[in-house]
Amino acid sequence: MTTALCPGSFDPPTNGHVDVIERAIAAFERVVVSVVDNPSKESLFSIEERISLLEELFGGRAEIGSFSGLLVEYAAEVGADVVVKGLRTVDDYEYEMQMSQMNRSLSGMETVFMATKSDWSFISSSLVKEVAKLGGSIDGLVPSAVEKALQERLT
Ligand code: PNS
Repeated sequence: MTTALCPGSFDPPTNGHVDVIERAIAAFERVVVSVVDNPSKESLFSIEERISLLEELFGGRAEIGSFSGLLVEYAAEVGADVVVKGLRTVDDYEYEMQMSQMNRSLSGMETVFMATKSDWSFISSSLVKEVAKLGGSIDGLVPSAVEKALQERLT
């Protein structure tokens, strides 16, 4: 059984994340989606809130968790064979390539890249939060549960 680990900040999950995770669920037998717990990074949603949103989106089809520390150590703990990451832009490519090479050097962990659908290539959690904070429409950029959570948090 091949297990894929989809790690991320997911603050909050966007349609870009959903696209990649849905495709990972279709491609791999077991998928673990995990929120990085990074106290030095300010977040809009708590770890528990992000886990709850991910459970609503993927519960029953993927295991949802959180982790702190090194990704490769967590990957070994959950029995992941590969890390799955989405690629949107050339900037993503450079950053993700560096991280995947570091992870392979640390533990031999392989990273599988999925090219994000072009519909979502301009979406990031940061931009979605900025637009929502400034009163712009995020309709169609995030799942409806996330849109509701953002509206509640920002009003
Ligand atoms: O959604 P993000 O913020 O792009 O996710 C980044 C993430 C969680 C994949 C990355 O920050 C990470 O792997 N953090 C764990 C710490 C670690 O292992 N660092 C070395 C990786 S080269």
